[in-house]
Amino acid sequence: MRVVILPTEAEASNFAGQFIADYMNNNKNPVVGLATGSSVLLTYKALIKRHKEGRLSFKNLVTFNLDEYVGLPPNHNQSYRNYMKKELFDHIDINQNNAFIPECFDENFDSASSNYEANIAKHGGIGLQLLGVGSNGHIGFNEPTSSLQSRTRVKTLTKNTLSKNARFFDPNERQPSLAITMGIGTIMEAKNILLIGLGKHKSKAVAEVIEGPLSAFCPGSALQNHENVTVILDKLAAADLKLYEYYIQTEKMKSEYNC
Ligand code: GLP
Repeated sequence: MRVVILPTEAEASNFAGQFIADYMNNNKNPVVGLATGSSVLLTYKALIKRHKEGRLSFKNLVTFNLDEYVGLPPNHNQSYRNYMKKELFDHIDINQNNAFIPECFDENFDSASSNYEANIAKHGGIGLQLLGVGSNGHIGFNEPTSSLQSRTRVKTLTKNTLSKNARFFDPNERQPSLAITMGIGTIMEAKNILLIGLGKHKSKAVAEVIEGPLSAFCPGSALQNHENVTVILDKLAAADLKLYEYYIQTEKMKSEYNC
């Protein structure tokens, strides 16, 4: 696992934006897995900036989002489809027909899930998966005790996740308690994974993901079993890492020796 620690969230997000841009420029038919939430917002801004400056085109890009609430219409303010349009898709030249989100409207959860998996496979798999991490260690909406082999399916959200995300819903609005999410097994099949962690409130989860035991209780720890994971952190999110100095030193060596 490569751990990159940068002083501020702006620098960490800019690094993430460049990482994604490099992947897109080095692949003729890029397939990127996208995340929602606050951790990736500045990264999306960094991508939009590169596009507006004429440095990055999204024309050939195919995307698969990690997850979506069950029961929200796509145009609902808090649907992840709407989030993606607002924060990224409407500002770049992506063909939105190639931007997939695991939507499920008719309660046919199993077929919505297996169709999503089949669609990922049809596009040759995900080349680069972008992830945030929940403060309980979840990736996507794979809550603690999710099977480390799980596939796309419906999950019940924990109290912790519901309360963390309640701020986005109006007080009298019904907040969905189910979501459809790529599984941990699905995420692990991506060829490359980029996880972004920002802020002090993520430092414990980040330390569990990187240095904790491999455990379904911290779903993000499954990434320890993946060959190509890069974790990008600001200083605050890295604060609980035991090997903090080692990660800094490793990156210094990497740039000195170009390896
Ligand atoms: C959310 C999403 C995840 C996201 C995580 C962290 O509930 N399902 O995809 O990465 O939790 O969210 P945030 O970046 O807002 O802290």
